[in-house]
Order: sequence, then C-alpha cells, then structure tokens
Amino acid sequence: MTRPVISSSGLFTPSESISNAELVASLNAWTDNWNAEHADEIKAGTLEAKQHSSVEFIEKASGIKSRYVIDRVGVLDPKIMAPRIPERPNEQISLLAEIAVAAAREAMNRAGREPKDIGAVICAASNMQRAYPAMAVEVQDAIGAQGFAFDMNVACSSATFGIQTGADFVRAGHAKSVLMVNPEICSGHLNFTDRDSHFIFGDVATAVLIEAEEIAPKGAWSILGTHLKTQFSNNIRNNFGFLNRTAPEGIGKADKLFVQEGRKVFKEVVPMVSQMILGEMDRLGLAATDLKRLWLHQANAGMNRLIAEKVLGHEASEDESPTVLDTYANTSSAGSIIAFHKHSSDFKPGDKGLICSFGAGYSAGTVFVEKRA
Ligand code: COA
Repeated sequence: MTRPVISSSGLFTPSESISNAELVASLNAWTDNWNAEHADEIKAGTLEAKQHSSVEFIEKASGIKSRYVIDRVGVLDPKIMAPRIPERPNEQISLLAEIAVAAAREAMNRAGREPKDIGAVICAASNMQRAYPAMAVEVQDAIGAQGFAFDMNVACSSATFGIQTGADFVRAGHAKSVLMVNPEICSGHLNFTDRDSHFIFGDVATAVLIEAEEIAPKGAWSILGTHLKTQFSNNIRNNFGFLNRTAPEGIGKADKLFVQEGRKVFKEVVPMVSQMILGEMDRLGLAATDLKRLWLHQANAGMNRLIAEKVLGHEASEDESPTVLDTYANTSSAGSIIAFHKHSSDFKPGDKGLICSFGAGYSAGTVFVEKRA
C-alpha cells in the first residue's frame, strides 16, 4: 500500500484586519442605536436593553486580539454590521475559490508541483459559497488540475477530515497528489450584533498537499496516523440551508448564522479532545515527550491551554502549542493548518507533532506527523 505524506501547506491572509477596539466600538454604537429605537419598550419592561461589549472581556475570555476580514467597512458600519461582498457573474471565479487558489498556489510552489500533477481536489470548509457546482471543481479548473474534485463540510474539523480523506485516496491508489483547501470566510456567518459571539471569527484560506511517499519533496511530513470522531451536539449550530425559504417564518431568524452555547462547548469538548489525542498516542506508541509541538484548532486560548496540558502533562509553552488565534481569531477549519504552516520550519528530520481540530458536530480529528529528511 502506498504511504501518504504531507508535502506542503499554503496560506492566504486577507489584507484587511479589525482590532478588538474597532469591533467593540461598532457593536457599542449599534447597541446605543438599538436601545434608543426601542426606548419605550425598554422603559415599559417588555424588552431588555442590550449591553456594551468590551475589549478586556474578549481578550480574557478568548485570547483574540484582532482578526483578518474580507470586508472591514461593512462589518464596522453600525448600520450594516456584516461584510458586504458583491455577487460575481458566473464567468468570474467565485471569492471562495479565489482565496483557496491563492493558498493552493503557495502549497504547490513549495512542493514544486505542476497543476497536471494534482489528481484530486478536496474543498473542506464550514461554509460553501453555493450549493453547486462544487467549489472544489471550480478550484480544480482554475489551477488546471486533473482527476476529480468535491466539497466536504465537517465545520471546524473539515481540514483534518480532508487530510484523512486525501491520505485514504493515496493509500488506495486513486490519486498520487491530493490538494486539500480550506477557504473560510467566517465573517459571512457571524452575527456582528451579538455581543456573546461577535468577536470570535476571522477570514482566511489554507491548503495542504497530501501525496504518495514516492513523489514526496525533500522535507515532507510522514503521516504517522489519523483519527476522526463525531458526536452529535446542538451546542454549536448554524441552521442556514436551502429549505429556509420554504419555512413559514422565512429566513430572518438569528439561528441562520453561527450560534453556540460557548460555556458548554468549552466544558464538553476539552475532555473529548484530550481523551481522543491520548488514545491515539497510545495506539501509535507515542509518549508526550515524543511530541515537539501541538498545532491545535484555534478557537479559544483557554481550551488550548487545558487540552495541551492534559496531553503533555505540564503547561505548554508557546513553542509547544503555538497560538495564531490572537491575530487570526477562530478561522474554523483553517486554524490548526495556519498554526502548522507558520510554526513548523524549525522541525528537524525525526521531529514529531500533532495537527488537531475540533468543533461543531461535535467533530474532532488528529493527524500525527513526523518530519522527513
Ligand atoms: N463583552 C463583555 N461582556 C460579555 C461579552 C462581551 N462581548 N459577552 C459576554 N459577556 C458577559 C456575559 O454576559 C457574562 O456576564 P454574567 O457573568 O454577568 O452573566 C460574562 O461575560 C461571561 O460570559 P460567558 O459567555 O459565560 O463567557 P465565557 O468566559 O464562557 O467566554 C466564550 C465565552 C464564547 C469566549 C467561551 O465560552 C468559548 O470560547 N467557548 C468555546 C467556544 C468554541 O470553541 N466554539 C467553537 C466554535 S467553532
């Protein structure tokens, strides 16, 4: 059986960003307008006044300091509170495919790969731009790749599920080189008027090349083992879908955007993920001391601190569990791949690490890797 490796990764970062102070100022302005508009109901006690957000809360509760976005202006305008991304004609590449291609080109350049070498494209992300044709087929066309392409969605775990899927294609001989992309325009599903969650997400795209060992470039990564897990939960939901317009109440409810019970997520996901990682380490015969670094999903700094501590047996240093959450915020499936992409160049042959994702579903995935010569 052909052994799969990770040959390279790529990253696209939007040029615009928003600091916590800017985001809080716009939510507070929106809140003041809303409270003024509903002053009579608030006075009569039929509506509760909305409260201001705060920079201190956001940074303490999440570790997020800023986020990259496709459209700053719409998000920060108290009259809009959403990104404004114009529709494109069918003849023009869609935005999701465009940012996926940007990340893909970096991954392909790093591996010295030509478009004709790519045998499959997987677009693994939390939100697709449209129902069909698949984003992955558009990316395949834009880069001139061969073979087949399809989309898959496992929310924040989409990338690790995509890596295992790509690795399985390589093992089975269906493709020698699989391009897996994660375009995440999370600002599109975020309710910027909701104080509990308005700060959580950012926009980005990542790409990973999963290939047969025999064509691996120098310095690729052996995949030591992958493991996936899902367990149903209502605590992170987004009810946006094609049947919304058929419901008598229409599409207007806030649950057609990201909603969560953040505290419950925190409490339930930390033990689920740490046990999963430890179980997989046991199966692969790996001790904590064998791992140089954990590239964890980037949702919340406190969650990552607890998971890393349970896995390593001590509080992780920034070197052992790097954070990109502070500048990128939660970028859904792309988070652990950004951490891997930005914090792996110091690895020597034989060094081992873990890419780990977790999120809605619940879903979680682990990919243990070892640097090759
Ligand atoms: N500014 C100021 N205060 C705020 C606030 C804001 N933006 N949002 C909430 N608060 C207040 C709350 O009203 C609450 O006040 P109370 O104690 O008087 O009731 C207090 O701060 C604590 O709120 P809570 O929601 O319980 O905070 P938390 O410490 O649990 O942090 C999350 C919230 C969402 C950051 C955190 O739970 C989390 O990250 N969970 C995991 C999320 C996750 O990984 N999701 C996966 C997405 S893929």
